[in-house]
Amino acid sequence: MRKLLILMLILGLPSGVLAAGGLKSCGTVECDRVNIDLGDKASLQNGARIFVNFCLSCHSASYMRYNRMGHDLGISEELVKGNLTFAAEKVSDLMKAVMPKEDARQWFGVAPPDLSLIARSRKPAWVYTYMRSFYRDNKSPSGWNNVVFANVAMPHVLYEWQGDQRAVFKKDVHGVEVFDRFEIERVGTMDPKEYDRAMRDLTNFLTYLGEPAKLVRYKIGVYVLIFLAIFLVFAYLLKKEYWKDVH
Ligand code: HEC
Repeated sequence: MRKLLILMLILGLPSGVLAAGGLKSCGTVECDRVNIDLGDKASLQNGARIFVNFCLSCHSASYMRYNRMGHDLGISEELVKGNLTFAAEKVSDLMKAVMPKEDARQWFGVAPPDLSLIARSRKPAWVYTYMRSFYRDNKSPSGWNNVVFANVAMPHVLYEWQGDQRAVFKKDVHGVEVFDRFEIERVGTMDPKEYDRAMRDLTNFLTYLGEPAKLVRYKIGVYVLIFLAIFLVFAYLLKKEYWKDVH
């Protein structure tokens, strides 16, 4: 009985820790769920477009080359060249930030970090919630703050899409101010559903960026399953052939 208990403890402990990790909260709020689907090419392409146009000015993704991204996401070389490489000279370049790190440090007080691995270090749900949680704050140097990342140095670069929102705080039972809800101050060019969808695509792309080989692995996985299915037929026929004389 005791052995059984110890075994249950050993087996149960890691899964408990993993479950707690999965429910990681976003700063002071709970993360919103995001539906990551690396098989959704259209979503990944849209995420790439948003990333290159709105994030590469400050952030880099210096483990990724433009042509590798184009190849993985099914974007032709001409399209990559014509639409996505304004921050680079050649399609074989790494995705470097437009703004020099030193300038960015002076402007924002901190250098914007490389985003190659952000969806792995912070988790996709964190990135998704963060991108939707900027609010107007006159006390911050950029005029923006974020309920997921308090006093963040990054301005809300997509405010034209999302519009401006104000954060309303309330006092909890201990008298501590906690985030209650957002109130729209000015509507953006996208409605909330459209904006959420765009941020889902961006998060999907950042998840791909964190582990590009995943796409290749999925593809190989499908071939392996097809191979196994065909092999099963031959294995069965062979088994029948061997056992024919025994019965
Ligand atoms: C104007 C420059 C600028 C642009 C454009 C910009 N960011 Fe940032 N970003 C920053 C700075 C500066 C920080 C560091 C914030 C801090 O540490 O306080 C940051 C931080 C972040 C973080 C948090 C990193 C961490 O520490 O975990 C994420 C995620 C992020 N940016 C995503 C994005 C995405 C996605 C885009 C494009 C939609 C984008 N940023 C565009 C300046 C920028």
